[in-house]
Amino acid sequence: MQELYPLMAEAEALVLAAPIYYFTLCAQIQAPIQRMYCVNAPAKVKKMALLCSSYSPGVYDGAKAEFRDICNYWHAENMGVVTAKIDEQKTEATKQKIVELVAKL
Ligand SMILES: Cc1cc2nc3c(=O)[nH]c(=O)nc-3n(C[C@H](O)[C@H](O)[C@H](O)COP(=O)(O)O)c2cc1C
Repeated sequence: MQELYPLMAEAEALVLAAPIYYFTLCAQIQAPIQRMYCVNAPAKVKKMALLCSSYSPGVYDGAKAEFRDICNYWHAENMGVVTAKIDEQKTEATKQKIVELVAKL
């Protein structure tokens, strides 16, 4: 986190990327998100996006709800979510969706 805090303080856009573990964002991304509580919010972040992978379809509701609430809490615009279940990962269609999402940031 000591490396992350200064980067988060300067960032104007933020892309979170994580697999779904047990119907939510994995613990490895939850930890740095939750540690941001001590600085309230990343000061300059105006826009955010989420990239999410999973094995199964239809497992993204929890992650999307959490992401929406974090955007609201951090006063950042929710630019959208790209999801990829197992057969959508590393495909051209998914790469295109990511390119289009990132272009909006
Ligand atoms: C501990 C664990 C929990 C998982 N839980 C889910 C789940 O609830 N639903 C699902 O579709 N995929 C689940 N997966 C599969 C991952 O989302 C999938 O492997 C992901 O696309 C790639 O993450 P990985 O590179 O960390 O394996 C789980 C994987 C692990 C290791």
